[in-house]
Amino acid sequence: MMLLYEGKAKKVFKTEDPEVLRIEYKDEVTAGNGAKHDFMEGKGRLNNLISSDIFKYLKKNGVASHFIERTSETEQKVKAVHIIPLEVAVRNVAAGSIVERLGFKNGEEFTPPLVELYYKKDELNDPILTDDHVLRLDIATEDEIRALKEAALKVNAALIKMMNMMGLKLIDFKIEFGRDKKGNILLADEISPDTCRIRDLETGENFDKDVYRNATGSLIDTYTKFYEKMEAVK
Ligand code: C5P
Repeated sequence: MMLLYEGKAKKVFKTEDPEVLRIEYKDEVTAGNGAKHDFMEGKGRLNNLISSDIFKYLKKNGVASHFIERTSETEQKVKAVHIIPLEVAVRNVAAGSIVERLGFKNGEEFTPPLVELYYKKDELNDPILTDDHVLRLDIATEDEIRALKEAALKVNAALIKMMNMMGLKLIDFKIEFGRDKKGNILLADEISPDTCRIRDLETGENFDKDVYRNATGSLIDTYTKFYEKMEAVK
């Protein structure tokens, strides 16, 4: 089937059904907009298993997404959407870029959670956007911006609940949305330890891509442990 798009961690293929796409998760890991890049056997499988189960969990908790079904260890069938070029980040605790950029203290709690929009554009290094920028760039309407933020907070509440059961704390995460043929907005892309910061509630140990970003351990072992914890609370 025709390759429609290849990203850093996934390939997207057309299928016979114009309303369905096939996503293949790759054994690759990148950080810093591709500055760090490695092949990692087994990573595609873990991301696919985790992301599929998270989408299923979100559906049970009232959040619709593009996910239809997991069709193999490394593949999913999803509803065809056009990705909106926004990265919607939700932060419960200050970490990562917000500490460097705005001087928040690492570990500072955000109550209520902070929602941010970034422009998904590699050549500009994904800059942060105000709502006015989003409108001027014709990326989304005012109503859509409101809907994206509301959906992001709903995802946050559901993920916090799941991770709490796993003995973990959700620090922050990034999600993406797409529009279907009719213009309906759907949660899309992937949700996994690649796109979240997650720490052990007791030890503070990282269960996310920071392990790779900061070279503090084995990413495969970390994601395997995360998956096992998820399975245990299912
Ligand atoms: O880098 P920053 O601190 O802004 O990241 C916030 C959250 O969004 C982190 O959980 C990170 O993994 C995720 N993120 C992502 N993809 C990006 C940028 C951030 O998944 N391109």
